[in-house]
Amino acid sequence: MTKVLIATVKPFAPAAVSEIKSTLDAAAYDYTFFEKYSTQDELIEAVKDADALIIRSDKITREVLEAAANLKIVVRAGAGYDNVDLAAATEKGVVVMNTPGQNSNAVAELALGMMVYQARNHFNGTSGTELKGKTLGIHAYGHVGRLVARIAHGFGMEVIAFDPFIPKETIQKDGVAVAESVEDMYATCNYISLHIPANEHTKRSINYNLLSKMQKGATLVNTARKEVIDEEGLLKIFEENESFNYVSDIAPDNKELLEEKFGNRCFFTPKKMGAQTAEANINAGIAAAKQIIGYIQKGDTTFKVN
Ligand code: 3PG
Repeated sequence: MTKVLIATVKPFAPAAVSEIKSTLDAAAYDYTFFEKYSTQDELIEAVKDADALIIRSDKITREVLEAAANLKIVVRAGAGYDNVDLAAATEKGVVVMNTPGQNSNAVAELALGMMVYQARNHFNGTSGTELKGKTLGIHAYGHVGRLVARIAHGFGMEVIAFDPFIPKETIQKDGVAVAESVEDMYATCNYISLHIPANEHTKRSINYNLLSKMQKGATLVNTARKEVIDEEGLLKIFEENESFNYVSDIAPDNKELLEEKFGNRCFFTPKKMGAQTAEANINAGIAAAKQIIGYIQKGDTTFKVN
């Protein structure tokens, strides 16, 4: 019997757990939910006899993969797979997939929610500003970026996007302007929302040079990955641009320093909350379970990333 381990430090919502169970029950698969564990050693122990693995931001290192002698497939229930050692998985013949688009709406809603929170001075009782009429730059126009654009239009924002991998026409048909360059977009906008993945090209790419283009009073919103930010550059910008704001769903390593020095000009969720909705968990969780069944039973490799 195929054994699936659902290893989630940050558990899925109860409704998603029950949907994942039904999906795996229907295929007569055996499964174990392994939630809120705290060490890699616990995961190494748990993964030993698994044929398939469903994860979220859980770190799948070479050591974990080496401990999992029967493992055939890992599905990241979500978008970013920077938490999986792809080279080690490929070496071991383990297929890695993600579930693109399944949790995007939750992340997009949070991005706009964080903009409102910052615009209204963290709801501290003072007069803030509105999003209507402001310009939003979307850095990377993938599943989340598109939804952010759609919601921002509802707020009455002007939307610009930069994404060298997406044809201009695709962006323009959504009523979104295409930035000439990433620098131009940062210079033009009141808000910048990051939706780039963390990889060798993007890590620390949101650096001093780019941030120094931003306007007075502008807000950078990061619901992507903390690794894309150059934290030294960020600190320098906070000091130089005295009305620059940074809100993020992934606290930087220098979180305490920023909070202490810049107070209400920054905000960090205590835990990554972007995909933490029942709907996102259900969509991504069911997709992950179905992709495992599709691969084991039919060799379907749609959404394979290695
Ligand atoms: C993703 O890459 O899908 C998001 O960052 C969500 O991550 P999470 O599943 O750990 O909440």
